[in-house]
Amino acid sequence: MSGRLRVGVLASGRGSNLQALLDACRQPGFPAEVVVVVSDREAAPALARAAAAGVPAVFLNPKDHADRAGYDAALLGCLAGHGVELTCLAGFMRILGPAFVRALSGRLMNVHPSLLPAFPGLAAQRQALEHGVKVAGATVHFVDEGVDTGPIIAQSGVPVLDGDSEASLAARILVEEHRIYPEAVRLFALGRLRVAGRRVTIDTEGGSP
Ligand code: GRF
Repeated sequence: MSGRLRVGVLASGRGSNLQALLDACRQPGFPAEVVVVVSDREAAPALARAAAAGVPAVFLNPKDHADRAGYDAALLGCLAGHGVELTCLAGFMRILGPAFVRALSGRLMNVHPSLLPAFPGLAAQRQALEHGVKVAGATVHFVDEGVDTGPIIAQSGVPVLDGDSEASLAARILVEEHRIYPEAVRLFALGRLRVAGRRVTIDTEGGSP
């Protein structure tokens, strides 16, 4: 056993946040490792990234399950089977049911491309542009039963520029996602995150994760 925190990543798409986590875990001394990547889409580039990194890549087909509860239970079984201690959502496009969220409470994180609580849900960058905000950004948060509503672990802002398109703003935000997500995982692995109600604070010294 390496003694590192065992991380499972759920991803449906291109997997750039997964890649940021995989890259961080390759750094000497990083206190976590990705032990499994699960996707609901067989063709997700995220699965290819996992395989390229030598990490088990699992396609769990929603069509093999009668309902969301059945799928979520299969997901939980897969994560438990790999000894996962922290689950990271990284562009996972399925809504997870309350039983799943409760089972992993305090051990389930997500990254979202806005400064929450502004612009939850889909197309956060477009929502920011349409609203006309001058500062956008990224948030890493624990997942609760709402949509993008859980306690905030880390945020980083970026300017919205006059000529921005959805794509240019998304690219600027993504740089921050790739920075703050591995940092949040690192702090969790070191046992330095403390949750009190909605507030997450960072201990200067480690405890147990
Ligand atoms: C990211 O913008 C993330 O914030 C959102 O979905 C996108 C996933 O991108 N939840 P990627 O698959 O990590 O490249």
